[in-house]
Amino acid sequence: MIPVTANAANAANAPFDQWMQHIQQSVEQTLDALLPPADTVPTVLHAAMRYAALGGGKRVRPLLVYAAGDLSDAPHGLLERAAAAVEMIHVYSLVHDDMPCMDDDALRRGKPTVHVQYDEATALLVGDALQAQAFAVLAVPDAELASDGAARQLAMLGLLTHAAGSGGMCGGQAIDLASVGVNLSLAQLEQMHQLKTGALLRASVLLGAWSGARPDAADIAALEIYARAIGLAFQVIDDVLDATADSATLGKTAGKDAADNKPTYVSLLGLEASVALAHRLRDEAHAALEQFGARARRLREIADLIVQRKA
Ligand code: IPE
Ligand code: IPE
Ligand code: MG
Ligand code: MG
Ligand code: MG
Repeated sequence: MIPVTANAANAANAPFDQWMQHIQQSVEQTLDALLPPADTVPTVLHAAMRYAALGGGKRVRPLLVYAAGDLSDAPHGLLERAAAAVEMIHVYSLVHDDMPCMDDDALRRGKPTVHVQYDEATALLVGDALQAQAFAVLAVPDAELASDGAARQLAMLGLLTHAAGSGGMCGGQAIDLASVGVNLSLAQLEQMHQLKTGALLRASVLLGAWSGARPDAADIAALEIYARAIGLAFQVIDDVLDATADSATLGKTAGKDAADNKPTYVSLLGLEASVALAHRLRDEAHAALEQFGARARRLREIADLIVQRKA
């Protein structure tokens, strides 16, 4: 594979698809380099970590890290590690989400899920180990950062930790599991989606922003509005695709939410209103970016991708 340089990955004029592919390749290379080799003991765990993390996924969270990094010329090395870290947390969440004690899914990213390909104990440990490695990756001392580098890394670690925990993704997953067969209100459903999916997307945006010069309060406020909007839109469209796309296109089992009696935007609002909501959220996200001008181009394009995606 051709090594991806910072310049190529950040080429300001490249069409979105080209930029996206550069980032996706770059993330693949970074994860490949960071994850322990499959021939290092414990070999099965390491092989399974690599099976889960490599060779698939849209890499939306890394795209957000890099796109938000554009706002402040963030150093490439820190963006690279922040992108890998958030993707590791995301992959861990998928591996556990698919386990029999949660959604009990057999297909992920077009392949058998980790507990099917290996076994349940391995899947549990893959998630645990990926989560631990995510924090280790973000905490690596970085001599290239300015004098406030360590403080910035600590702030970023705090952001990711909170997004992963009971106030973020894990909390959302707990609500999701407790909501099977329950009629949630719209506010409750929004809270569940913001936690289980929105929290890591928000963290991705803020990690990118924090990788560069310290963002000011107005920038953070605007990014919070953007992140909330795309975070919710992402899961609304995930719910829509579960009801409308096929398993081959999705690379995961379609129709699972209805089969499992999960409350979703589709079950609460219907398909048309869900898609309309996602479009309104996209417009909100765009409006929040106005103050950044051309530097927010990639963030705008990712908001479009999130509502237009077919998988
Ligand atoms: C799926 O996430 C799980 C949700 C949080 C909705 P993605 O749709 O980003 O999955 P990959 O990473 O592309 O496989
Ligand atoms: C999962 O939501 C969110 C995570 C934290 C992984 P879903 O259960 O809807 O994700 P999919 O549809 O299996 O990818
Ligand atoms: Mg789930
Ligand atoms: Mg699931
Ligand atoms: Mg889903």
